Amino acid sequence: MSLNSKNNSKIYTAALVGTGRIGFSLGFDKKREQPASHTMALLGNKRIKLIAAADTDSEHLADWKKFVKGAETFSSSEEMYNSIPTPDIITVAVNEDSHMKECLAAIEAKPRLIILEKPVALNSTQAAEIAEAADKAGVPVMVNHERRFAADYNMAKTYLKNIGTLQSVRGELYSGLRIYGKEFENDGAYSLLHDGTHLVDIISWLLDEKLSKPLVTGIFKDDKDVVRNFSAHFSTPSCADVTISMSGRSRFFSFGLDILGTEGRICLGNGYAKFYRRKESKLYTGFFSLSKDRSIHLPKKTGYFSNMIQNAVDFLDKKEKLLSPLSAAIEDLKVLEEIKTKFI
Ligand SMILES: NC(=O)c1ccc[n+]([C@@H]2O[C@H](COP(=O)([O-])OP(=O)(O)OC[C@H]3O[C@@H](n4cnc5c(N)ncnc54)[C@H](O)[C@@H]3O)[C@@H](O)[C@H]2O)c1
Repeated sequence: MSLNSKNNSKIYTAALVGTGRIGFSLGFDKKREQPASHTMALLGNKRIKLIAAADTDSEHLADWKKFVKGAETFSSSEEMYNSIPTPDIITVAVNEDSHMKECLAAIEAKPRLIILEKPVALNSTQAAEIAEAADKAGVPVMVNHERRFAADYNMAKTYLKNIGTLQSVRGELYSGLRIYGKEFENDGAYSLLHDGTHLVDIISWLLDEKLSKPLVTGIFKDDKDVVRNFSAHFSTPSCADVTISMSGRSRFFSFGLDILGTEGRICLGNGYAKFYRRKESKLYTGFFSLSKDRSIHLPKKTGYFSNMIQNAVDFLDKKEKLLSPLSAAIEDLKVLEEIKTKFI
């Protein structure tokens, strides 16, 4: 159901399933770069009209209804799909254990595009079911691995050609959330899935290569046999030393990458982005040192969420391909599952 705007460019209708943190409330976090929720990002795009939302939590839904004037609300997606004309975009932002059910229901509603929160699903079997259904119905699905859309990560991807041959790539995620325990597979409440999907995705995207056959070291399990630390080492055609390290016993949250080339280095993560190149050393005669590249100016906002929504619009306009397709996110899930097998 596309509407027409004044300047005659199409307005795409959108509906949201899941009005929780990423669906809605993170949009009010003053410390985060905004928009930081699907609601705010959809409302912020002039080419989109947010027409409805569904949530099984009546409080979340009532708060959302108060904020998004004129939109309809429903206590289930089924009720929503039965009540409104099929929107152009359906965003699925429910908890991991409902990704498959809600994504399959969204596919059945046949929108022109689905935006699915990461990770695709609880496991790659469920993800394959989503892919098969999407394929059959001809419904494209993009996954919100938002760093792919952020200005700083895009700058890093471009800057890779300035740092020579890659020597190492380190990706790190430190938090207090458990890394993995079999008992958490049913609800997906473990960091390997939750956050690991971001790490694997951004490294694969930056290198434009698949990660596979990890050597896993540094596995630390707590007294309940729950994995709290590990490092997974990979080799790719462009870099012989790619490491993903995660901690689930840190009393802080940190996400970052350190990419070392033969002529430079890129350090970027949540809250920082630094680009270095070799320059004649100020410290030692006849040597080169790494020096911060002053020619790099990053915009104040990375645009990680609004650019993702813009990609959806550009895709529907047939101007752009999906920059975070379902297929890539399924590959990410498979890498996480390969790592998981080494924990036993
Ligand atoms: N891209 C990111 O960086 C990012 C950040 C946070 C969360 N997420 C992902 O977004 C998803 C949601 O996380 P959250 O933190 O917003 O969780 P949340 O619990 O705050 O919100 C989820 C909402 O979905 C609703 N819900 C659950 N099942 C439903 C169903 N079947 N039908 C309708 N509503 C349903 C819940 O009632 C809740 O309001 C997760 O997959 C999470 O991994 C992604």
